[in-house]
This record gives sequence, structure tokens and C-alpha cells, in this order.
Amino acid sequence: MKNIVILISGRGSNMEALIAARDAGDLPVNIAAVISNRPDAKGLETAARAGIATRCLDHKAYAGRVAFDAALAECIDGFAPDLVVLAGFMRILSEGFVRRYDGRLVNIHPSLLPSFPGLHTHQRALDEGVRIHGCTVHFVTPALDHGPVIVQAAVPVLDDDTEDSLTARVLAQEHRVYPLAVRWFAEGRLRLEDGRVRLDAPTLADAVLVAPRLA
Ligand code: GAR
Repeated sequence: MKNIVILISGRGSNMEALIAARDAGDLPVNIAAVISNRPDAKGLETAARAGIATRCLDHKAYAGRVAFDAALAECIDGFAPDLVVLAGFMRILSEGFVRRYDGRLVNIHPSLLPSFPGLHTHQRALDEGVRIHGCTVHFVTPALDHGPVIVQAAVPVLDDDTEDSLTARVLAQEHRVYPLAVRWFAEGRLRLEDGRVRLDAPTLADAVLVAPRLA
């Protein structure tokens, strides 16, 4: 069974979705550890309650990005993960760090990349008046919120949407597609090859719906 390490900075709802999928038998992975760069991350308590090893490396205690990333890599490597899963990990990672985990580092971002990298994606989508918004799971490259796309889920943007309602609609899809993408990796079907995403033997069951049913 593949080992994964999850990196968080806050609430950890995507991490919870991964734990729930594992517990439901839908995600055959060993969650070796959850690591946060913020001591107050709520997700740390959730992970500990689920019996998962937790670590906190406070980025403020390090001289700079490279020093923090080196310590983070050492901590991660102690758990020998096959895959490192960024789940709301709100730190820009150095090029050296990203290269070290080439093909083994995935992220989820709350927009249909390459639209709206960075922060406040839902408000920006509303401001731009887009009709379709969503989320993206991708392999990480040194550029912020960028990299070969593994899976995306789209949702409609409604006339009366607020930032909160749109956030909730997208988050529900994040919780669906992240366990799916990690499962593909755990099954040995997903890999990065010459900078392209390869998914072996995709089936209809892998197809992700566009504009899912409204709640
Ligand atoms: C999620 O919406 C995730 O997509 C986003 O942070 C949130 C974390 O929520 N990540 C990014 O913006 C990365 N650029 P969570 O802690 O409840 O999973």
C-alpha cells in the first residue's frame, strides 16, 4: 500500500475528505503523517483524533524559505511517502523542494487553472462574471498554482451567488475530486511522464461531472 503525507495550513477539510475516503475503503493508502506550517492549524487536531501522526514546523522559526523547505523535506522524508499531498498548504515552495518531489507532489486549487491562480479565487471569479468555476488537482511545478492537470470539476456560477455560496459549491467538489486523484495514484494508474499526466485504463467511473446537480 502506498504511503502518503498530507501538508496543511489550516482547517484541513480536504485532508478530512481523504481520511474519510480511506476509512470508507475508497482510498487504499497509508496516511503516514499530517504536517502543518502553522501551529494553530485546526486540521492538526482532526488528524491526531484520527490517530494519524502529526508534525508542526512553524515557518516563522526559520531564517528563510530555503531553510524552512529543507527542514520540511527532512520531516517529510522521515515518513518515506510515495506521494506528498498539499491540502490547503498556503506556502510558496522553493524550486529545489518542488524538484525533489517531481511527479510525487500534488496540489488542489480552488479554480479552474490556469484561470485564477493565487488567492481569493471565488471573489475574483464573481468579479469577472465567469459562468463556470471549479477546482483543479495538479502535479506541482515551481510556478505558483501551476502544473500538469490531473482532474478538474466545474460548477455553475449563479446570478445570486455570493463568495460564500460559490466557495461552498466548489469545496464540495474539491472533497470529491481530491480523493479520486489520490486513489488513481494509489492504484498505480496515475503518473507524470515528460511533463504530461498519464492515467492508465480510465473508465466511465473515473469521469468527473461538469456542472453537477445543484444542492
Ligand atoms: C481549499 O479550498 C484549497 O483548494 C485551497 O485552500 C483551501 C483549504 O481548505 N488551496 C489553495 O488555495 C492553494 N493555492 P481546507 O484546509 O479546508 O482543505
